[in-house]
Amino acid sequence: MKTQVAIIGAGPSGLLLGQLLHKAGISNIIVERQSAEYVLGRIRAGVLEQGMVDLLREAGVSQRMEAEGLPHSGFELAFDGRREHIDLKGLTGGQGVMIYGQTEVTRDLMGAREASGAITIYQADNVRPHGMKSAEPYLTFEKDGVAQRIDCDYIAGCDGYHGVARQSIPADTLKVFERVYPFGWLGILADTPPVSDELVYARHERGFALCSMRSPTRTRYYVQVSAEEKVEDWPDERFWDELKSRLPAELAERMVTGPSIEKSIAPLRSFVVEPMQYGRLFLVGDAAHIVPPTGAKGLNLAASDVSTLYNILRKVYTEGRSDLLEKYSAICLRRIWKAERFSWWMTSMLHRFPDSDAFSQRIQHTELDYFVSSEAGRKTLAENYVGLPYESIEDA
Ligand code: APR
Ligand code: PHB
Repeated sequence: MKTQVAIIGAGPSGLLLGQLLHKAGISNIIVERQSAEYVLGRIRAGVLEQGMVDLLREAGVSQRMEAEGLPHSGFELAFDGRREHIDLKGLTGGQGVMIYGQTEVTRDLMGAREASGAITIYQADNVRPHGMKSAEPYLTFEKDGVAQRIDCDYIAGCDGYHGVARQSIPADTLKVFERVYPFGWLGILADTPPVSDELVYARHERGFALCSMRSPTRTRYYVQVSAEEKVEDWPDERFWDELKSRLPAELAERMVTGPSIEKSIAPLRSFVVEPMQYGRLFLVGDAAHIVPPTGAKGLNLAASDVSTLYNILRKVYTEGRSDLLEKYSAICLRRIWKAERFSWWMTSMLHRFPDSDAFSQRIQHTELDYFVSSEAGRKTLAENYVGLPYESIEDA
């Protein structure tokens, strides 16, 4: 097989890049290790920045999001029994976020890809990129036991944190930056009405809690748990009791509980590799960076990487601007590090750290108190939460 861009991974990064390239007349093939059903079964975050909403519109896959997504113009921080509203719209000159699950974004992208006739190869084994430093890179893999090869101009590694793309780059050419947090998030999905119209991020002595949602009838709630915790030890009733114990009384009292339809524990990690390019291989999304979910930035960062690579490739193919390819990594990393900083900061400010002493706890509390009581502090929170502007590909 032959194509212009070979894409590894059919998560949101790979599917969105594929759709944008296809619309621009640039051929691409996606090769994915799992089945489409498996990819859709993963429950992930659900807060889209305006930049991502605009990109989905540009890709022609925004119809259901516009109809079913919930535009939010603020969120809440809860601590010490206080409930502090962060008015995103008022603090950022009119910006907000869209609540729409990653699973739904993926479903819409899969539908659009199927309608477009572009090729996606699911359940591909042993995917490997080759010749990245040459002008003729290619992918090899096996499908139903038969060896296959895709020749291409460029390879996009959209295969997530555990993917093969990053691991195919010689380790001595990559610099890794990492922080593993000593806790995880236990999350449940339930068909219950949300406790509040907006998301609530809560700091409590027992640990962090988050009240989120997928729709007016479906909630997504989280509680911080220790890194060693097991899902089996968390029957629904224990989860609801723990969640309520960490929320201000008026929220706890009005919480509607019900059976969970999904329950899982996710570890928290900050991770970045530099650079995000090796010859003709480009790392996109979780393949290159992970953020803890506290700032809701993971999916949005994947979208800004996609936007950058798409805009560069378009100029390469239409205007011969191959000089831009070398700039991909630097352009992406500027925005990535700012989102890494925000996600780390929100995590540090809102979680209970097992080794934190009395002084650290007072500072942590004061930091939250300061940021919500100062106009400048609220603006900082808001401008980061709605998402910093996408970087231009021209003035790198
Ligand atoms: N070969 C082919 N496909 C692979 C391989 C491989 N060796 N390894 C992983 N994949 C596939 C995975 O099965 C998955 O479908 O690559 C896809 C990667 O998707 P995600 O992990 O969702 O990553 P990405 O598309 O970058 O999405 C952005 O940011 O913070 C997160 O929640 C957010 O998952 C979202 C991510
Ligand atoms: C979610 O809805 O899953 C969610 C929302 C906000 C976050 C993290 C996760 O910060």
